[in-house]
Amino acid sequence: MASDPMVSINLGNEVDLSKQHDGTPHVFVLHRPSLAGRCSAVTGDFFDAVPEGGDVYILCAVVHDWDDGDAAAVLRRVAQAMSGEARLLIVDNVIPEGSEAHAGKWIDLEMLLMTGGRERTAAEFAALTAAAGLRIERIVPTAVSVSVIEARRFRDGAAEGTARP
Ligand SMILES: C[S@@+](CC[C@H](N)C(=O)[O-])C[C@H]1O[C@@H](n2cnc3c(N)ncnc32)[C@H](O)[C@@H]1O
Repeated sequence: MASDPMVSINLGNEVDLSKQHDGTPHVFVLHRPSLAGRCSAVTGDFFDAVPEGGDVYILCAVVHDWDDGDAAAVLRRVAQAMSGEARLLIVDNVIPEGSEAHAGKWIDLEMLLMTGGRERTAAEFAALTAAAGLRIERIVPTAVSVSVIEARRFRDGAAEGTARP
């Protein structure tokens, strides 16, 4: 029925609510009971603004969707929302510089064809985050192909200025 709300259960990988539920009058998102009172669903465009006041910001499988210009624009919005103590965790493939096999190299081709995005090396992530006023503190590999890139805002005024164009 057109006026019924949509109930989304278990948001998973690659879920784009805006495409799934265009025209749906209302969307409920079902969370585990343990999240009651501790979880808010917020709508918005990360090119416009990101909620402020978080301790940790997570961009999982997001940065690789975008070319360098758009990826830096998203990161700048996140940097603007972050306090000096907040951390950003980027979960993406970090491509090795050499010719060794890495699952992310195939995904790099997929991103090029599907979104115009790309996978990046550690040096490319360093340049991208620096352009957004963020510095990488460490890169933690995981049991799968993606790594967790931990970044904070630059503390010096000159670099911070690049985060607030
Ligand atoms: C590849 S999915 C990753 C989803 C999730 N983080 C995961 O790991 O499964 C990219 C997500 O970015 C969201 N997205 C794309 N453009 C956006 C925008 N301008 N503002 C906010 N979210 C956006 C899409 O809706 C999608 O959920």
